[in-house]
Amino acid sequence: MTKHTRAALALAVLVAACGGTASDDVHPEGSGGEAGSGARPGEAPALPWPLTEFPSLPDVMVDVPKARIELGRLLFFDPLLSVDRETACATCHLPQWGMADALPRAIGHGAGITAGPSRVGSNTLRRNSLSLYNVAFRAPLLWDGRATTLEEQALIPLNTEDEMNRDPGELATDVASIPEYASLFADAFPQDPGVTVANLASALAAYQRTFISKNSAYDAYVDGSSSALSEDLTEGMFRFAEMGCDSCHTPPLFESNTFANRVVAEIDGVLDYGLEEVTGRSEDRGKFRTPTLRNVNNTQPYFHNGSILNLSEVVRHELELSELPFTEEDVRLITEFVGKALRDDRNQAAFPAQVPSGLPLPVDLFGAR
Ligand code: HEC
Ligand code: HEC
Repeated sequence: MTKHTRAALALAVLVAACGGTASDDVHPEGSGGEAGSGARPGEAPALPWPLTEFPSLPDVMVDVPKARIELGRLLFFDPLLSVDRETACATCHLPQWGMADALPRAIGHGAGITAGPSRVGSNTLRRNSLSLYNVAFRAPLLWDGRATTLEEQALIPLNTEDEMNRDPGELATDVASIPEYASLFADAFPQDPGVTVANLASALAAYQRTFISKNSAYDAYVDGSSSALSEDLTEGMFRFAEMGCDSCHTPPLFESNTFANRVVAEIDGVLDYGLEEVTGRSEDRGKFRTPTLRNVNNTQPYFHNGSILNLSEVVRHELELSELPFTEEDVRLITEFVGKALRDDRNQAAFPAQVPSGLPLPVDLFGAR
């Protein structure tokens, strides 16, 4: 990305938003806290990038029966989906941890019903659990992009030996034998009733598409509420852009379909070639998909292998790769922006009181936060 100064960028955006006529009233720099700085009601806010609207809901979400979403929720929390009958999707995708699990690398079946950072077990996976916020808009999925749709992705944890290790066909038979599930499937799929693997995946996908994060302080600011971002957060946003972070973590989702090698420290004994494992091309070694920064404050530890615990350390690492000069103040302001301005976790998964299998739900010993 070509580098622009903050003022030039902000002015360009404002000029574009005002129909190309620069007006004397435009003071995109603001000068620190006095009344009238920032955008006026109805005026475009000062942004370091072109204003892009949050994407509209994908077609697959239109007219989805509520019953299908509710079924998806029960399946998402039901440990019946794993070989040990103790590991649910929610074991590794918890509301209190940004729809991830706060472990460096996720731990599969055989580790009891404990979920979240205190989960201990021998089936440690190679990768950090991904946040499920805004997966409705994401394709391809996974750190290496090896799944295209959520329906396809839903069967991957089941089929992965260290993860849930549950044959989907056998699972469908077991689910069908539970009368409550049989009737829930009939309500959820009126045109095509039946407890099939495809319907199971479809219900899980429908539920996950509800984890939408689009009402953060940044979004309020974009919508014209200039006071939604403090001076520090606004400054952090401009520095984020100046340092080129937005070329991969692109607003409004603060992610993209790009794959990059961010020279992340390797973990002893863990071999992970990332995108190369999918494409077979050696130039893709070590490349991973650019993850979202929305709600990233809650998904520590970071990177595909969880090798860095603190958000500010990750930001410093990313700044070092930019090869532009930066100060400790840049680290602080960008960390503030990323950690605070992009937070909206209202549409998170909600624990049901119980699941139709009657099995105990995953328990996070850190409790709800
Ligand atoms: C043992 C922990 C664990 C369990 C159980 C688990 N996941 Fe995951 N999930 C992960 C990890 C780790 C990743 C990243 C894996 C990768 O990229 O290779 C992931 C990635 C995902 C993604 C991709 C998100 C993205 O942004 O690309 C989705 C969707 C997902 N999981 C849904 C589910 C569903 C649905 C279930 C239950 C059927 C489930 N997960 C069960 C750990 C788990
Ligand atoms: C060339 C694309 C690119 C640029 C530029 C970039 N990033 Fe990243 N970022 C990535 C990729 C890819 C990952 C995941 C890397 C991995 O895990 O191996 C990542 C990971 C992160 C993470 C961790 C997210 C998580 O959930 O683990 C944060 C935070 C982050 N970047 C912030 C920044 C900041 C701040 C900047 C600007 C200084 C920046 N990035 C610039 C591509 C980029």
